[in-house]
Amino acid sequence: MAFRGGTMLILTMMALLEIQICSSEINRGNFPNGFVFGTASSAFQYEGAVKEDGRGPSVWDTFSHTFGKIIDFSNADVAVDQYHRYEEDIQLMKDMGMDAYRFSISWSRIFPNGYGQINQAGVDHYNKLINALLAKGIEPYVTLYHWDLPQALENKYSGWLNASIIMDFATYAETCFQKFGDRVKHWITFNEPHTFATQGYDVGLQAPGRCSILLHLFCRAGNSATEPYIVAHNVLLSHATVADIYRKKYKKIQGGSLGVAFDVIWYEPLTNTKEDIDAAQRAQDFQLGWFLDPLMFGDYPSSMRTRVGSRLPKFSQSEAALVKGSLDFVGINHYTTFYAKDNSTNLIGTLLHDSIADSGAVTLPFNGTKAISERVSHI
Ligand SMILES: *[C@@H]1O[C@H](CO)[C@@H](O)[C@H](O)[C@H]1NC(C)=O
Ligand SMILES: *[C@@H]1O[C@H](CO)[C@@H](O)[C@H](O)[C@H]1NC(C)=O
Ligand SMILES: *[C@@H]1O[C@H](CO)[C@@H](O)[C@H](O)[C@H]1NC(C)=O
Repeated sequence: MAFRGGTMLILTMMALLEIQICSSEINRGNFPNGFVFGTASSAFQYEGAVKEDGRGPSVWDTFSHTFGKIIDFSNADVAVDQYHRYEEDIQLMKDMGMDAYRFSISWSRIFPNGYGQINQAGVDHYNKLINALLAKGIEPYVTLYHWDLPQALENKYSGWLNASIIMDFATYAETCFQKFGDRVKHWITFNEPHTFATQGYDVGLQAPGRCSILLHLFCRAGNSATEPYIVAHNVLLSHATVADIYRKKYKKIQGGSLGVAFDVIWYEPLTNTKEDIDAAQRAQDFQLGWFLDPLMFGDYPSSMRTRVGSRLPKFSQSEAALVKGSLDFVGINHYTTFYAKDNSTNLIGTLLHDSIADSGAVTLPFNGTKAISERVSHI
């Protein structure tokens, strides 16, 4: 399904819940009863039809059309054209024996300006998609945010950098519960918040392409030492606000559940030294713990609080209470394992001054020149 004509090669992966079946001996019988097999996508990577039926532009439209941002100059104007070809795609999923399809809703199809007037054509599209899935016995799993912020909100108040986003995201999410929640029982508020906080605001390789590392060599604007933390904080508060709304107003009637899908690389210490073992834990704190600690315990990991200091935003008591316990399930997108090594010099910190330097851990899929596995394909 993914690789029909017009395949888009955006610099790094956006979605992909990729199951690599290594051995032909594995079959469904090896999995417990009730195990759900599915496939997943993101709106920006799949839909195309970026200017149709009233859709507003997103930060990814802007980014992918900015010269020099995409290695092969491709964009997602057509992508795999799922906006038009969803019925065919669903039949392919059915033929493959899929139980579920995880897709994301494009915020700017529902609210072209990010807030205000609802675009009925956008609502109609997702109603048709959801109904077509259910008609084939495929369960919809819906992601509300897969990185495609309405450009209008980026322009209006710098998007995720401004706490104003919390109420606009809540209104968008509640609209989705109202329009689709009678049929959608699995909600993922955010896909890989760590990825878009770091790729978008620390190293600047993804939309909106902000960073300050290497003296603004790659990005005109941004602050890699502060912005990823502000973005993550607003994401956590947005998730918690939406979870609260769902639990108070919709969960009882609609009977669904709500979580976040995290990107989680596993980190192995490069050596058995205490320094590297601690570095592996810190690398995990700065990846999964950054989000999961507040959601489970109401605050950031202590390693982050110590190392980031005053650049790390703080939760008030009431915010901590809202964030803590706001997940019904934990989603994990797992790609690979890296080695983690304590930083032996402060060279990286001096050059980057960002969240990666803050972690004090260097993570790579190599030990010297030896790859962690034969199938290492990217850093
Ligand atoms: C957030 O946006 C509002 C406008 O919506 C603006 O008044 C405010 O100054 C912004 N705050 C920050 C921290 O940029
Ligand atoms: C990495 O290589 C070093 C030097 O060869 C070795 O001491 C260490 O055990 C290796 N680490 C792992 C995890 O294999
Ligand atoms: C590792 O990096 C941190 C932060 O940049 C720094 O404070 C610390 O001194 C570094 N550790 C060593 C052993 O250089």
